[in-house]
Amino acid sequence: MSTTPATSSTSRTDQGQIGSLAGVHSDSDRELPAHPAQPVMEAKDLNVFYGDFHAVHDVNLAYGRNEITAMIGPSGCGKSTVLRCLNRMNDLVAGARVEGQVMYHEQDIYAKNVDPIAVRTHIGMVFQKPNPFPKSIYDNIAYGPRVTGMKVDNMDDLVEEALRGAALWDEVKDKLKQSAYGLSGGQQQRLCIARTIATKPDLILMDEPCSALDPIATARVEDLMLQLRNDYTIIVVTHNMQQAARVSDRTAFFTARPDETTGNRTGLLVEYDLTSNIFSNPSDKRTEDYISGRFG
Ligand SMILES: Nc1ncnc2c1ncn2[C@@H]1O[C@H](COP(=O)(O)OP(=O)(O)OP(=O)(O)O)[C@@H](O)[C@H]1O
Ligand SMILES: [Mg+2]
Repeated sequence: MSTTPATSSTSRTDQGQIGSLAGVHSDSDRELPAHPAQPVMEAKDLNVFYGDFHAVHDVNLAYGRNEITAMIGPSGCGKSTVLRCLNRMNDLVAGARVEGQVMYHEQDIYAKNVDPIAVRTHIGMVFQKPNPFPKSIYDNIAYGPRVTGMKVDNMDDLVEEALRGAALWDEVKDKLKQSAYGLSGGQQQRLCIARTIATKPDLILMDEPCSALDPIATARVEDLMLQLRNDYTIIVVTHNMQQAARVSDRTAFFTARPDETTGNRTGLLVEYDLTSNIFSNPSDKRTEDYISGRFG
């Protein structure tokens, strides 16, 4: 493993955190332009409502190809809501309404002629809690390619490739027919990542993928994310700012602003920049207050 877990002394209430978080960034030598040159995906004037409640206001955000973008911010600021917009998962939430555009390969995924199921095969998702199907390890991987009608020459090879891609093959190769429920939490999460990459998406969305994992399993998933970045674009929501600092190339900080009359808190994007800048030299005071533990 190449990723070293950050020192446990760094916590959200540590006032010296900005400096120490900048220090844990594992990939600071990677040279990236100030803005994603050719974004693989772009949210434009994105607004999300749950019934009358305005949950997310005017988000504009470009996600760079083969980059890891972290979305951070206090609970309820709309991170998961924005993430779910990126593969039309909010379509499945009763009462949710999305306005604006999400451009993917110059196509608005919310355009009338777009099939949301096809969108989700290109843009995979890994959830907070590992959620393998009640099937064998093998069938968890084979399921997606089968139901999407993917042309597969040899399913055994595809299963192996996906499990290798998720750094799980060596641990499970002798028990492929056993239930996925017999795996540890960290293994289950890597299985879910293997299941996601089996359908060959080019974007992977992750919503707090390590929050149910211990530090060792977390480090393995973070290593995996850095490896997967060579072939995929990853967008990750995390509450763990050390994780954002360790794995991401760019970080988007969201917060929630209360409406003066209703008191409802609408989420908005405060600042988006290279991760090294966000953690060492944020330009907005709200970002600085959040990452230094003074707010949120
Ligand atoms: N299905 C839903 N129906 C109604 N309101 C919702 C729904 N999902 C989210 N919300 C509201 O939208 C706002 C944003 O929620 P969201 O889950 O996106 O926040 P979050 O930043 O991911 O928070 P957390 O860090 O706690 O996961 C919150 O006020 C939340 O209560
Ligand atoms: Mg969330």
